[in-house]
Amino acid sequence: MNINDWVFEDPHGTFSLSNPQAASYLYFPLINEAGMMASVSPYLNGDAKADQESFLLLPVSAEDLHNSRSGRNFWVLIDGETPWSVTGNSAGQIAASLTRNQDDVSLRAGLLWHTLTRRHLASGLEAVVTNFVPATEDCVELMQVKLRNTGDRSLRLTPTAAIPIFGRSADNVRDHRHVTSLLQQITCHPAGVLVRPTLIFAEGEHRINTRTYAILGTGPEAPVGFFPVVEDFIGEGGTLDWPSGVVNKHAVTCPAGTRLEGFEAMGGIRFADVVLQPGEDRIYILMLGILDGEDTPEALLNRYGSPKMFEAALTESQSFWRDKLDTLRFETANPRFNNWLRWVGLQPILRKWMGNSFLPYHDYGRGGRGWRDLWQDSLAILLMEEGSVGETLYAHFGGVRLDGSNATIIGANPGDFKADRNNIARVWMDHGAWPLLTTKLYLDHTGDLEFLLREQVYFKDQHSHRCMAVDEHWLEEQGTLQRTIVGDVYQGTILEHLLIQHLTAFFNVGPHNMILLEDADWNDALDMGRPDGESVAFTALYAGNLRVLGELCLVLDGTGMKETELFEALLPFFSFADQKQDNASVQDKRQRLDRYFEAVRHRVAGEKVPVKLTSLAKDLMEKADWLTNELRRAQWLSSSSGGGWFNGYYDAAGERIEGEFVDTVRMTLAGQVFTTMCGIANQEQVESIVRSVDKHLYDSEVGGPRLNTDFGEPSSKLGRMFGFAHGHKENGAMFSHMAVMYANALYKRGRVREGWDVLEGIYKHVQDFNQCRIYPGIPEYVNPRGRGMYPYLTGSAAWFLMTLLNEVFGIRGELGDLLLDPRLLACHFDGDGKATVKTRYAGKSLEIIYHNVDRLDFGDYRIGRLEVNLQALKLSEYDQGTIIPREQIDKWPPTTQVDVHLVPVSG
Ligand code: G1P
Repeated sequence: MNINDWVFEDPHGTFSLSNPQAASYLYFPLINEAGMMASVSPYLNGDAKADQESFLLLPVSAEDLHNSRSGRNFWVLIDGETPWSVTGNSAGQIAASLTRNQDDVSLRAGLLWHTLTRRHLASGLEAVVTNFVPATEDCVELMQVKLRNTGDRSLRLTPTAAIPIFGRSADNVRDHRHVTSLLQQITCHPAGVLVRPTLIFAEGEHRINTRTYAILGTGPEAPVGFFPVVEDFIGEGGTLDWPSGVVNKHAVTCPAGTRLEGFEAMGGIRFADVVLQPGEDRIYILMLGILDGEDTPEALLNRYGSPKMFEAALTESQSFWRDKLDTLRFETANPRFNNWLRWVGLQPILRKWMGNSFLPYHDYGRGGRGWRDLWQDSLAILLMEEGSVGETLYAHFGGVRLDGSNATIIGANPGDFKADRNNIARVWMDHGAWPLLTTKLYLDHTGDLEFLLREQVYFKDQHSHRCMAVDEHWLEEQGTLQRTIVGDVYQGTILEHLLIQHLTAFFNVGPHNMILLEDADWNDALDMGRPDGESVAFTALYAGNLRVLGELCLVLDGTGMKETELFEALLPFFSFADQKQDNASVQDKRQRLDRYFEAVRHRVAGEKVPVKLTSLAKDLMEKADWLTNELRRAQWLSSSSGGGWFNGYYDAAGERIEGEFVDTVRMTLAGQVFTTMCGIANQEQVESIVRSVDKHLYDSEVGGPRLNTDFGEPSSKLGRMFGFAHGHKENGAMFSHMAVMYANALYKRGRVREGWDVLEGIYKHVQDFNQCRIYPGIPEYVNPRGRGMYPYLTGSAAWFLMTLLNEVFGIRGELGDLLLDPRLLACHFDGDGKATVKTRYAGKSLEIIYHNVDRLDFGDYRIGRLEVNLQALKLSEYDQGTIIPREQIDKWPPTTQVDVHLVPVSG
């Protein structure tokens, strides 16, 4: 069925959609920093929770969105009509909506609020239902129901709020659902229903619970009674979408003060009957709260309990989000695109607060954040926030182990790493590479080279040898900090942390002298590659990083520093004057690595030696060169039809996986992305890669290049991904993250038009509601039917924003200086020839406006002149790329406008 697209209503991301309930799998996030995390579907299904252990509403997965009848409901008995739910969640309405359009329904939503309007056609009763989570310290979702009589006869109504209270851990859905209902202590408060379970139920470690789950309501008059227990509300044989408590108008309610124990709880609130004359309205406010310790329901009622307070909290929340997202704004010729980007900008923040858990598709994980996601989301956070980001990155480095791997359990706060008590011995071989990307962006933004020299601790637990061995001497009570033999905490510079991450990778090679895949790389589903699987794709990223590290050592040397102190056990990894290490020998590499692992198995001697930065740089560059040449020599696959591409992987048995086989062409996108991005591929190879990707991976039905071709047979020699049907998720979907990184790589190699085609292709697909069926934003991937999957929580958002700012607009830092190197196409400039970005840089709010009055295309313009706050900025030379030194920027006022005038290249 063709349904309408969502339409933007203002420049702040507000959109509307008629009949949202006609599309499945839709959900909208509602969240605040205090920890309330909720989602709502067009039927107001979806859950609300503070963490894995504290679900106020029943946990839902995507498939429950159209099954569950346990979401938020608000019923109205209209005299003479069948019972009506303002959320559409009644058996009668759902049946009717499939045969005829019974209600008029529309959605308006913005940052971050959700308003559904539903009109009961026969009576003219209209319900406007707004949900949001206030940007305050309260763990609460607010819901306002405004009933208005738009008809011409007076209506007698009986309103009943009905929200089942799950009130316990998500684990208890399958782990003793019934038994845990016996813990529920239920009280009817004068304004609603409170549930305080006696215990947090987890076999072996039950704990006393201190949280209270509350559904509170206010209306024109106080509630007249309550339905505190599900089974009483639905009645024997009833259901939540046809409950006896509503259908039977005379159902008996409980008075305030009622206490019940040991049942599934219901936030059922009966309000007094009301007569609405034509044109009249009444407002009801519901508060869905999770109260900690001493928090009281009265506090919530006093803060949000009236329409005025609700409005004030809504306005505050709207400006909170607007301010937060205003720090990075793009204005191109396409207002829909500009507005869509506001939602992309929201996504890294959502992932910072939710990790990869807690939205309906993300029905895994228990909160916390993954290592690579932590670093990559920080890319966008760096572009949007300033101030404490450096401290946050610094704290994250405390998760690195001396063997180059990192803590797997990462808590909610920076630097909060936990020992892995479940003994999940997994190492993702790409993990060591991401911190340098983010650190480099930070250094470029700030010029804060001192950051590299700050000392930081290392993480320690029972795992050693990159999880291939166990440190039997480690005991939990020793804590999670690496110590020296004498018991001191061992610390090293951030530079040392980065070196350890890269050296332990460089030496950790398989039979083809490429870095071992270990338990997976970026593609989590390549998880069966031990013992001999190798990730050529990420070897390329490490190669690029080794060069960056070498360059940073030279920059440090340039500051006059000359030497740095390094952990002594690292020395055998370098080819300094007195010793040579053989890059070509797999055996030599493995032996050196094994000796190093032994040295850091438990406590370390902790001796440090001074190393010349120039020698370090030379060695790192040699390693990078060696890998580059080796990748070009041994991993390039020539195609029978000319051109070719890079092999990305070897499987567990050491077999190359890509190439032209008898009846299949096997190719991965990852194999091309980092070889392109990091300068491994020469220009001619980049040309061939572009052609091969277009031929074998690009699919207009899904809006971009897929992750891989169909390898045909499920292989158990590389990972679960080959068990997935092709075209889904990590097996060949258009996976936004990798596709956006591909675009980024193309820009880095000067393939501007092709890079934009990838970004635009993704945008065009995902904003097309008829194909993609998601609200504005970028989804994790697009399935073979074109549907956007796993919306909101995806690393592609950060990469999209960074690519747009750094590559398309060409605005980026260079160790503190600001580079302007626009790669905008004619189509990006609006009617006045302008393309604008607002961003934060060096503690200033910058509005950078590119003026291209003749709408020249990329390649035909250069920077002609610059004005800063309307004053011409004298630069000795203007070229395609123009650098503004940090000393100048530091003198600019906090809000600064930079006008960049583009002129014809020949002009
Ligand atoms: C998700 C995970 C990410 C992983 C990727 C591929 O991607 O969050 O860590 O690398 O799947 O397995 P995302 O949607 O975040 O881009």
